[in-house]
Amino acid sequence: ASGIADNLLLTTYLSARCPVAVAPAMDLDMYAHEATQQNLRTLARRGVHIVEPGEGELASGLQGKGRMAEPDAIAAFVGGLLREKKKSLAGKRLIVTAGATIEAIDPVRFISNHSSGKMGYAIAGELADRGACVTLVTGRTELPTPAGVERVDVLSAAEMYDAAVRAFEGSDGAVMCAAVADYTPADYHDDKVKKKDGDLSIPVERTPDILGTIGPQKTHQFLCGFSMETKDLVENSSAKLAKKNLDMVVANNLKGAGAGFGVDTNVVTFITPDGTRELPLMSKADVADAILDEILKRRSL
Ligand code: C5P
Repeated sequence: ASGIADNLLLTTYLSARCPVAVAPAMDLDMYAHEATQQNLRTLARRGVHIVEPGEGELASGLQGKGRMAEPDAIAAFVGGLLREKKKSLAGKRLIVTAGATIEAIDPVRFISNHSSGKMGYAIAGELADRGACVTLVTGRTELPTPAGVERVDVLSAAEMYDAAVRAFEGSDGAVMCAAVADYTPADYHDDKVKKKDGDLSIPVERTPDILGTIGPQKTHQFLCGFSMETKDLVENSSAKLAKKNLDMVVANNLKGAGAGFGVDTNVVTFITPDGTRELPLMSKADVADAILDEILKRRSL
C-alpha cells in the first residue's frame, strides 16, 4: 500500500500489470488494527482483490480472524480472475491460419517449408480460451487441435486461400501465421515424374497472397500478419504492414537463437502504425498471450 519494494514479492507486485490478489494472514489483533484495515482498503481501491482470512486457531494460540485462507480457496479465486480476463473475446469470430502449405509436383513430391504450425496453434488455443469462436485454417501439421477450435484442413496455398477468404466473411479479424508457399509448380503431373539423365527444371508460378487480398478489402476487422526475415527485419516487416493494409505485424528473425521453426520459443517484434516493440525470448504460448493482449489494447474487437 505504501509503495515499498524492498523484497522480491513487493518488487514484483509494484511492476505487475496482471490482476493481483492478496490473501492476508496474521494474528487477530494485527488484522483488526486500523493500519492494516486502511491499507487493505487502499489496495482494494486500486483494484487489488482481497481474499479474506479465515477464523479459527492462529499461530499464536489465540482464536480469531487472521488464518490464511485455504490454499484451494485461493487457487479457485485466482482461477476465476484469470477466466474473467480470458473471456474478453466472447461472441467474437476470429480466423487463424497456421502451418505450411504443400504444393504438389506429382503424386509423390511436393514443395513445402519447415513451419511446424506451433505459433498459430498456440494463438488459436489462446483465442478459444478467451471465449472467441475460432476457425483454424491449417496446413499439414502433427499438432492436436486446440480445445474449442473449429479446424479446417487444407494442403495447397490455393486451398488455404479459398478456405480463409470464405471464413473471413462475417469475422471480426484474422491472425495469419501460415507459412504459405510463394510459388507452386505450374503443372501438376498425374503420374510420377520419371528421372532421366541430366538436370531437371520445374516451372513454378506465383500463389495467391491470402493476406494481401484480404487486407485491402477489410472494413472493421483487425488483421495481424506474421513476418519471418533473415535480414532487415523491421524495414521489411513495416513494408508488409503498409502493403497488405494490416493493423499489426509480428516479426521474427529466423536467425535469432530460440526463434523460428519447430522450437517452442520465439523472439518477436510487434510492428504497428505507432512503432515497434521488441519482446524478449518467450514460450510460443506466452507470445500468443502477448499478441492477443496487444490486439485488445489497440482495438476492442
Ligand atoms: O509477404 P510475406 O509472405 O512475407 O508475408 C507474410 C504474411 O503474409 C504472413 O502473415 C503469411 O501468413 C501471409 N501470407 C499469406 N498468403 C501468402 C503469403 C503470405 O496470407 N501467399
